[in-house]
Amino acid sequence: MEQKLKGKVAVITGGARGLGRGYALRLSALGADVAIIDRNLSSGDVYEFEAKLRTAESVAVECQQLNVRAIEIQADLTSRESTFTAIEEVLAELGRIDIAVCNAGGGTAQFADEITQADGADAVADLNTRGTPASCDEDVLQRVITTNLNSCMYTCMAVSPHMIKQSSGKIVTVSSTAGLEAGSGYHPYGVAKAAIIHYTRSLAQELGPHNINVNCIAPGIIRTGRLGDRQHLSKYIALRREGTIEDCARVVEFLVTDLSDYVTGKTITIDGGQCNQR
Ligand SMILES: NC(=O)c1ccc[n+]([C@@H]2O[C@H](COP(=O)([O-])OP(=O)(O)OC[C@H]3O[C@@H](n4cnc5c(N)ncnc54)[C@H](O)[C@@H]3O)[C@@H](O)[C@H]2O)c1
Repeated sequence: MEQKLKGKVAVITGGARGLGRGYALRLSALGADVAIIDRNLSSGDVYEFEAKLRTAESVAVECQQLNVRAIEIQADLTSRESTFTAIEEVLAELGRIDIAVCNAGGGTAQFADEITQADGADAVADLNTRGTPASCDEDVLQRVITTNLNSCMYTCMAVSPHMIKQSSGKIVTVSSTAGLEAGSGYHPYGVAKAAIIHYTRSLAQELGPHNINVNCIAPGIIRTGRLGDRQHLSKYIALRREGTIEDCARVVEFLVTDLSDYVTGKTITIDGGQCNQR
C-alpha cells in the first residue's frame, strides 16, 4: 500500500477492537504512526470474532508489525480531564497529531466487558439502549450521550489547539444511520449520533480557516464482534450484504488523505443503500 501518511500521527479512539481497530490498521498500512486510546485496551478479548481477527497480543503490536510507531493509552473519554491527559501523552510520545478518528462509542447501555459476577446471571451484555423520546431512564440517557457525544467533543477539543498551531489536520467523527433516522427503540443513541453530525458541521466552520478538515461517517449495519452477525438484515440493504470493517476503513482513508482536501463539514453514510430503501 502507498505510504501516503508517512510522517503523520493518527489518534484512534475506541481502537482496541471492532471498527476502531480496523481504522488503526488501515492508517498504519498507509504509513501513519498510531495512538490507540480506549477505555479498556483488552476490550476485544470478550468476543471470539475479534480474537480470531487479531494477529498479535494487542492492536498496537499489530500496527507496529506494519513498521510504524504505535502506542496505546487506557483512558475513559467520557471524562474531559482524562481525554486531555491522554492527548498530551500522545504528543509527548509521538510528537504531533495530524489525524483524529473519534470512533469511541456504541449503542449500548452496558458493554460486555463491564459485566461482573456482581451483576448476576441475568445481566445483559451489549444491551441496546432503552428508552423513548418521551421516557428514558436517567442512567441510560447519561451513559449513552456521554459515551458517544461527549467523548467525541472532548477528543476534538483536545486535539484542535495542536492542529491549529500546525495549520493542518484531519478530524473524522463517527455518527450512525441511527443519527439520521428516528428509530423508536434507539432514542438516546440516535440523539447522540445526530448531535455529532451537527457538531461536525460547526467544528468544520471554526477550524476551516486553519486548514483543518472535519468530516463525519455514518455507518449502517457493519459486522463487528459486539454487534454480531446480522446477515438476516441483508434483504433491507440495496447491496444485499452487511457492511465490513474494511468498507468503513476505506472511507476513513478518503477522509484523512489528500483525496478529501476540499471536503469539510460533511457526513458520509456507509450503509450499502439501506437508508434509501425505507
Ligand atoms: N458496528 C456498527 O454496525 C456501527 C454502526 C454505526 C455506528 N457505529 C459506531 O462506530 C463506532 C465503533 O463501533 P464498533 O461496532 O466497533 O463498537 P465496539 O464496541 O466494538 O468498539 C468500541 C470501542 O470503544 C471503546 N469505548 C467505549 N466507550 C469508551 C470511552 N468512554 N472511552 C474510551 N473508549 C471507549 C470500547 O472499549 C471499544 O473498544 C461506535 O462509535 C459506534 O457507535 C458502529
